[in-house]
Amino acid sequence: MINVVELFAGVGGFRLGLEKSSKKYNITLANQWEPSTKSQPAFDCYKKNFNSTDDEAINEDIADIIGLIPEHDLLVGGFPCQDYSVARTLAGEMGIEGHKGVLFFEIMKVINRTKPKFILLENVDRLLKSPSTQRGRDFSVMLASLQKQGYGIEWRVINAAEYGFAQRRRRVFIFAYREDTNFYKEQQKHNFQDIIHQKGFFAKEFPVKDEHNEKHPDKEFELPSNLLDVSDNFSAKYNNSGVIVNGVVYTAETLPVETTPTTLGEILEQAREFQGQVDEKYYLKNDKKNKKGRTEYEEMEYQKGAKKEKRVSKTGHEYYYTEGSMAFPERLDMPSRTMLTSEGTKNRSSHVVKDLDTSRLRFLTPIECELLNGFDPDWTNSGMPERTRYFCMGNALVVDLIEKMGNQIVDLYTKETTIYQEKNNEVQQMSIL
Ligand SMILES: C[S@@+](CC[C@H](N)C(=O)[O-])C[C@H]1O[C@@H](n2cnc3c(N)ncnc32)[C@H](O)[C@@H]1O
Repeated sequence: MINVVELFAGVGGFRLGLEKSSKKYNITLANQWEPSTKSQPAFDCYKKNFNSTDDEAINEDIADIIGLIPEHDLLVGGFPCQDYSVARTLAGEMGIEGHKGVLFFEIMKVINRTKPKFILLENVDRLLKSPSTQRGRDFSVMLASLQKQGYGIEWRVINAAEYGFAQRRRRVFIFAYREDTNFYKEQQKHNFQDIIHQKGFFAKEFPVKDEHNEKHPDKEFELPSNLLDVSDNFSAKYNNSGVIVNGVVYTAETLPVETTPTTLGEILEQAREFQGQVDEKYYLKNDKKNKKGRTEYEEMEYQKGAKKEKRVSKTGHEYYYTEGSMAFPERLDMPSRTMLTSEGTKNRSSHVVKDLDTSRLRFLTPIECELLNGFDPDWTNSGMPERTRYFCMGNALVVDLIEKMGNQIVDLYTKETTIYQEKNNEVQQMSIL
């Protein structure tokens, strides 16, 4: 069994993906806590779908339960992109600490305590660049922190639609492996290009072309050994793929070997099997008008349209607000755009589609949003308000990507245990001799 701890579990995208990949995954503990609300709909949904006991799924601030987290083989989690700068602690010359409430540092506390063999993290791709005033600082702090704890690291920005799935959702995945693993030792033998193209963690499930994007040259550099130095002075331009082994960072802008994507139209067809005729409440209304004198249909048409409007700022400054147009309705022969947490609030980025049966315009249903992320239909139908169902899907990930990564981790883990057993047998035979 591969014992897994899932942090920032949300409605369980990581767990679902891993469990779809193999029965070998055993999620020993999941943590999920929504700081901004008293009700905990994501946690309730998680518990209901996985039938978790109170010991297995904990609904508390991660900062309060670090000591409860048991040893495990694999740590997974999708966490927010925040300010990762560090400062010297007031107490000691040697001590360094991150800002309070920055969840990455809570993850690092878990790692320092439990030292899992493998770690798989997910974040928005903006993390590679932030903050804008010191490009790449946050990602550098993250890489340097993991490196300091004795991990090799590989990362890849993956757009789910490029590997066959139905959503153009681009996220960075970070895979870290302990330096005493067989996998780390193997990676040390390969050159960086080979790791990215053939031998590394992402290469098999997410193949890339031989050539790299020439606009972004490959780079090789070392991170400062002092974390404070990284935080205060270091900046770097990270490409969409990279690796750190033996203290050297190598980063390349890879091009995916694309698989034909699933289209939004195909998702609507799949959803039709479960939900039948779409309820009238999802259709754009043409009767009542809002304060601006627009019907819901007209409002969406306006929101999605190109704009060049004279506006006045709070300080009385006049300026032109401009934005381009968006597809209205969405194209059904393509994968969808990224689903945001605001999908359910009927704004410019909400998807509007032409219904397959009625040809009238409507918003996506929660089931369609679940299918766009690879969740089972009605996954979030666990008693939460409908708007929260959209929110949870905007927060979640494309489960199928985790399933693919899960296949790779099972392979790695099996090799680790086989080699460990072989070595153990050798030792036993030698002691008999
Ligand atoms: C990006 S979402 C992860 C979604 C998840 N991967 C899924 O499939 O649903 C991050 C989650 O972390 C939770 N969270 C935020 N602050 C937290 C904290 N201090 N302790 C525990 N969980 C927290 C949020 O409620 C949110 O559900």
